Amino acid sequence: MSKPVYVLGGPNLNLLGTREPEIYGRDTLEDIHARLRVIAGDVAIVARQTNSEGELVSWVQEAAREGRALILNAAAYTHTSIALHDALKTLKIPLIEVHLSNPAAREAFRHVNYVAPVAVGTIAGLGAYGYELALSAALRLSGEARS
Ligand code: DQA
Repeated sequence: MSKPVYVLGGPNLNLLGTREPEIYGRDTLEDIHARLRVIAGDVAIVARQTNSEGELVSWVQEAAREGRALILNAAAYTHTSIALHDALKTLKIPLIEVHLSNPAAREAFRHVNYVAPVAVGTIAGLGAYGYELALSAALRLSGEARS
């Protein structure tokens, strides 16, 4: 059986849909994950969100063992977590970073990024559509793409 694509989300992304919709849009995280499952077809998607840094680190370790690629929106931990950075450094599968908003165009504290240096690439500022682009990249980079 082919390995799944992991789609992991960090703190406060469980509030998508109602949290600052002018910045993050009106789709819920469930909406986004459901669309990814349709696009992925036969490839399984493991999609989870946590508000806990330690849990996110443990899931990255799980993705390293069991996944074909990792799509990660670490949310605020992007800008703070060395533990997450260290865990991501151990990955031998493609890591694609996603942000709904464009942190580079926002407050200075969002310009610090511990994920981007260990990611293959980053998709930011395109809202929920960024997840679809990230999945397309994940499938291609992990050898599943049909086109
Ligand atoms: C975010 C951007 C982060 O700066 C912020 O802390 C989030 C969401 C995004 O998807 O735009 O929680 O990762």
